[in-house]
Amino acid sequence: MSDQLPNQQIPETTALGTVVATSDGSLTLSHHEHGECYHTRAGALAEAHHLYVVASGFQELLAQDARQPVSVLDVGLGLGYTAIVTLEAWEQAPAPGPLVLVSLEINGDLVPPMAAAEAPWQENWPELRKSFCRALVRLSDKTWEARLLHPRSGAEAIWQIHIGDAAAEPIPPSPILGGYTHVWQDPFSPGKNPPMWQASWFVRLRSAVTPDCQMVTYSVAVPVREALDASNWSWEKIPATMPGKRKRHWLRAQPQTLTC
Ligand SMILES: C[S@@+](CC[C@H](N)C(=O)[O-])C[C@H]1O[C@@H](n2cnc3c(N)ncnc32)[C@H](O)[C@@H]1O
Repeated sequence: MSDQLPNQQIPETTALGTVVATSDGSLTLSHHEHGECYHTRAGALAEAHHLYVVASGFQELLAQDARQPVSVLDVGLGLGYTAIVTLEAWEQAPAPGPLVLVSLEINGDLVPPMAAAEAPWQENWPELRKSFCRALVRLSDKTWEARLLHPRSGAEAIWQIHIGDAAAEPIPPSPILGGYTHVWQDPFSPGKNPPMWQASWFVRLRSAVTPDCQMVTYSVAVPVREALDASNWSWEKIPATMPGKRKRHWLRAQPQTLTC
C-alpha cells in the first residue's frame, strides 16, 4: 500500500526544476541545482507586480505621463513574471508611449518552452500573458525579440531577451533614451549568486542607466547595501507591500549624481 495521501499532489519535476505552487496560485520552480525557488512562496506573480511594477513607480509613470518612452532592464528573465507584468502594465495603461524591455538570462533552456507558452509554470496563465510570449521570435542563438503594438495609443513595445552571463558580458545598451529608466534587479539571492550583487556589477549597471533611473530589488541584505554604497547608488528600504509576505522591506535605488 502506498503511504501517499489520496489528495496529495506530486510535484512535477522537469529538467528545469520542480514546479511549486505559490500562495497567489501562480507557479514557480525550485532550481534543480541549488534548490532556491525562482520566486517567493508568498506569490510569484504578486511580487512581480507589487515590487517591480508598483513600488518602482512604473505603473504610476505610465498612468500620469502619457507618451513618455520607458526603457526597462530586467535582470534575470527566469520564468518571465517580471517581464510579463511589465508588458501587462504597459498594455493596460490608457495611452502609453514606446516601451523597450530588455531581459537578461544565463539559462537559454528556459526560453523555448516559455516562448511556446507550453512551460509547466505557464499552465494557468491567461491568454494575454501567453500571447506576449508567443510573439517572441528567435533572432539568433542568444537573442529573442517580440514586438507588440499598444491597442489604444499605437505605441510599440520591443521585448528583447539576451542569453548570456550578465556578470561577465557587456550589458546590452538601451536602444532608446541613452540608458535604462528602470531596472528590475532579480537574480537569485546574494548567497546563491554573489557576482550579480557585487559592487563590480552595480558599477557597470550604473553606466547603463539614465540619471533618473529607478532600480528595485527584493534584497535588503547588508552586503547588497554596501555594494550599492561602493558603486554610487543611493538606496532606500521601502515597505514590502504585498499580502502574506513575512519579509518587511524591499529596496529602491537611484544613481547618485557625481560632481567632479
Ligand atoms: C530569481 S530568478 C528571476 C525570476 C524572474 N525575474 C521571473 O520573474 O520569473 C533569477 C534568474 O536570474 C538568472 N541569472 C542568474 N545569474 C545570471 C547571470 N549571471 N546572467 C544572467 N542571468 C542570470 C537565473 O538563471 C534565473 O533565471
